[in-house]
Amino acid sequence: MSTTIGLKGIQTIENFDLKEKCVFIRVDFNVPLAEGDQGSTITDDTRIRAALPTIRYALEKGAKIVLASHLGRPEGKPEDRKKFSMEPIAARLGELLKAEVVLVEDPTSDAPKGLLPGLRHNQVILLENLRFEKGETKNAREFALQMASYTDIYINDAFGASHRAHASIEALPQAVEKKGIGFLIKKEIEMLDVLLHAPQAPYMAILGGAKVSDKIPVIENLIEKIDTFLVGGAMAYTFLAAQNLSVGKSRVEKDKVSFAREMLARIAARGKKMLLPVDHVITNDFLAPSEIKITDTAAIPEGYLGVDIGPKTRELYRKELSRAKTVFWNGPMGVFEKPEFAQGSFAIAEALASFAQDDGTHSALTIVGGGDSAAAAEASGFAGKMAHISTGGGASLEYLQGDKLPGLEVLRNLRPSVQPTL
Ligand code: 3PG
Repeated sequence: MSTTIGLKGIQTIENFDLKEKCVFIRVDFNVPLAEGDQGSTITDDTRIRAALPTIRYALEKGAKIVLASHLGRPEGKPEDRKKFSMEPIAARLGELLKAEVVLVEDPTSDAPKGLLPGLRHNQVILLENLRFEKGETKNAREFALQMASYTDIYINDAFGASHRAHASIEALPQAVEKKGIGFLIKKEIEMLDVLLHAPQAPYMAILGGAKVSDKIPVIENLIEKIDTFLVGGAMAYTFLAAQNLSVGKSRVEKDKVSFAREMLARIAARGKKMLLPVDHVITNDFLAPSEIKITDTAAIPEGYLGVDIGPKTRELYRKELSRAKTVFWNGPMGVFEKPEFAQGSFAIAEALASFAQDDGTHSALTIVGGGDSAAAAEASGFAGKMAHISTGGGASLEYLQGDKLPGLEVLRNLRPSVQPTL
């Protein structure tokens, strides 16, 4: 059992004898897809690769494996069966694992039960997209019991989906006696627990992305621990508006301006820092930009909107980050999907990469919180130099804001062991 606080009372896959057992591994293969005439293709297989250590371990130990995941958010339309099929994932997984992946169309059929006993050491079963079953998102016990009927041991390695109380995450392990986590979740929680419980100072959080409201709970939960907040992305404009600076036609959450003002005061009162952009990349039109400029100051002129932090801000943030010992990055600094507006996010990735040492260690713990920031780190070319990139965007934020993840809570056994009486 792990000693990290977040995993108290939770078994890991290493605690079980897997030989000849039917092991159901819930993975998060919800990967980005590009639609084509021949069906969807995978544009980033990071999540499949991240699950390999657990799958390989179970194979080595002689388990009969059923893998299961959701993919996208199918709405029950007939065309969704093709668009969100696990077929391309089965193919990619087979290549990476060098094993045969048997795709089972219907997880509620007798097929898994029939196939499992005859599975050879280089074969695994992959269930078709769990969200094709209505019972999945409803956390339906009936669907869970169907999956439990062919499960000896349940392993959750789907960190990115562990904040969802869905059948394969919650109701299924409720129905199985032997249950635990895989290596991916173990590492995720160990890393995030450092941010929550044992960060080394100076501790800095780089927060970006579209909305302040998404980040409020995490700011609230970590305000006492973090020394410097560095803010970028559209959420910065709400903070600038809170200081009565002009933000042109930039995106601002009007109903969060007073929260932003109060937050700035609270941070200052604690002797901590919140750095905001001192210049910006701006444009007249986001979709068809005919003008792209850099402001001299933090103010954005009328008729323009901010789309990235400017060069002075990049330098300011780089300098501040160079003192850090612990860094958490969640949310891009600008619209990094467009090369003209990616420099801010790439500069942050480069600043964090500078902590990576030649021997693979890091002079500061650099953790990237999944989702868009993970994609920005990847696009920058510096992803390999981060100490940890979370595979879960929503899940890592919910964990850091102090919420309990249903996928972990259902595995926790905090009952004291019975002491023998003398
Ligand atoms: C994710 O990509 O964040 C997870 O796979 C969860 O997906 P969901 O937001 O569709 O539940």
